Amino acid sequence: MIKIRKMGMSDVQFVYMQEIKIFGKSLGKKTLYNEVLYNDLAYYLIALDGNKRVGYIGSWLTIPNAEILNLFTIESYRSKGIATKLLNSVIDYCTCNAIQNLTLEVRDSNKAAQEFYKSLGFKQVAKRKKYYSNNEDAQLMLLELE
Ligand SMILES: CC(C)(COP(=O)(O)OP(=O)(O)OC[C@H]1O[C@@H](n2cnc3c(N)ncnc32)[C@H](O)[C@@H]1OP(=O)(O)O)[C@@H](O)C(=O)NCCC(=O)NCCS
Repeated sequence: MIKIRKMGMSDVQFVYMQEIKIFGKSLGKKTLYNEVLYNDLAYYLIALDGNKRVGYIGSWLTIPNAEILNLFTIESYRSKGIATKLLNSVIDYCTCNAIQNLTLEVRDSNKAAQEFYKSLGFKQVAKRKKYYSNNEDAQLMLLELE
């Protein structure tokens, strides 16, 4: 069974290594440590299969507009509902804490992630031109909460 818990210092290496593997870059270990230790607005979660780390979500829970910073499921565990569990945990937290809007940016070319976010009710609301360092556009996606 998949469990979700808050990210701690001991998870930084996992998140760093997987970000490099999946995205080719990472927030960096120092930033990840600082987020976990000192940023009260940061809400970072890890998905576990037993003791094995299999997914991650990072968010900033500012009121009324919160933001998803990053999300992944490790390759061998995809299409099992793990990212849905992670994102639903953030959504639940938002709805209990007066957050009205949840936004994120996703690469224009990342259709799988766009489909994933749509499956949870996110809508594409704008395009951010040349948002990424390789000049790729971002889709801004929004989930309006009750
Ligand atoms: C996008 C990602 C996080 C989805 O994780 P996941 O754990 O496989 O997602 P889930 O199993 O919860 O998928 C839920 C739904 O999302 C949609 N979805 C997920 N992956 C999809 C894909 N490759 N293509 C189309 N739709 C997809 C489907 O509707 C799916 O429901 P279904 O399984 O009933 O068809 C994962 O593919 C990933 O880590 N990708 C690389 C990192 C990334 O792009 N992160 C997002 C950065 S903004």
